[in-house]
Amino acid sequence: MAVIVLCSASGSPGVTTTAFGLAVAWPRPILLVEADPVGGSAILAGWFQGARDHDTGLLEVAFSAEPVDEVLNRVAVQISDTVRFVPGARSHIEARELGGLWEPLADVLAGLDAVGQDVIVDAGRLGMAESPELLLQRADLTLLVTRTDLPALAATRSHADLIARTGLWRRAGLLVVGPGRPYSARGAAKLLGPPLAGTIPFAPKDAAVYHQGAAPGPWFRMGAFARSLRATARDLHARVATGTPPAALVPAVPAAPNQVPARAVDREPDRTSDPAAVWTAAADRRRGQA
Ligand SMILES: Nc1ncnc2c1ncn2[C@@H]1O[C@H](COP(=O)(O)OP(=O)(O)OP(=O)(O)O)[C@@H](O)[C@H]1O
Ligand SMILES: [Mg+2]
Repeated sequence: MAVIVLCSASGSPGVTTTAFGLAVAWPRPILLVEADPVGGSAILAGWFQGARDHDTGLLEVAFSAEPVDEVLNRVAVQISDTVRFVPGARSHIEARELGGLWEPLADVLAGLDAVGQDVIVDAGRLGMAESPELLLQRADLTLLVTRTDLPALAATRSHADLIARTGLWRRAGLLVVGPGRPYSARGAAKLLGPPLAGTIPFAPKDAAVYHQGAAPGPWFRMGAFARSLRATARDLHARVATGTPPAALVPAVPAAPNQVPARAVDREPDRTSDPAAVWTAAADRRRGQA
């Protein structure tokens, strides 16, 4: 059993790039499914640089008379020996037609484990009208991808709170892109709640290889970005295969809801603090000024 869904709250933290990178680094055959309701296929435009027509994808799966597993197999594009890719909707309008697909697709994806295949889904941003909610809920692991700056954490926190309150996802994890910019991944996880499932370093040049099909530099494979993807892929694969949850962290610090911290006009973020402490200190300052 290994269906892993990646999504974000806002701000393009790197869901598509990380999903692609994890698929490439995955230790066994994997199907990468683009279910971002924005449409337009970031992977056909990016990795493939538009060289492949968007002539097939989830819409064909949704409307074919063939069984979902058969048509899914037919529309999947080979990316490497182990990675196959199913393009998403061509546009956000087309994405509206996919509502009826998520349930049968979730069933088929769950069954792929029996034939030795894992699945990574790029679900795009949460909260969109055409979000593939059922895939998010039924995945073996659903990863909220975030950066660690306060605007990113503010956006992610409302979703993390909702997930914790409703328990809608079977198992949630946090995947941090750019730890230490400015806050640590552990600090972000402590603030947000879901256990930390992986970190990918901030590496714009290396990320552009997967995001835009840029030529990799000579050290790409040995660099921190590719190494972290391999380590995270190995770890996630092991965890979903054994049903082990991501490492439990300290529970989230209850912070005042819907409060935006005062703008730090006169100070740089303190990289040694965790964001929960910064948040609380900002709230204290505001209260002191009131
Ligand atoms: N690890 C990383 N380090 C630095 N930059 C990154 C990293 N991962 C992705 N990026 C960059 O972040 C930008 C957004 O990446 P990407 O499209 O993967 O994000 P996304 O979360 O899927 O966005 P969207 O919500 O718009 O679909 C791109 O410029 C990409 O190259
Ligand atoms: Mg994306």
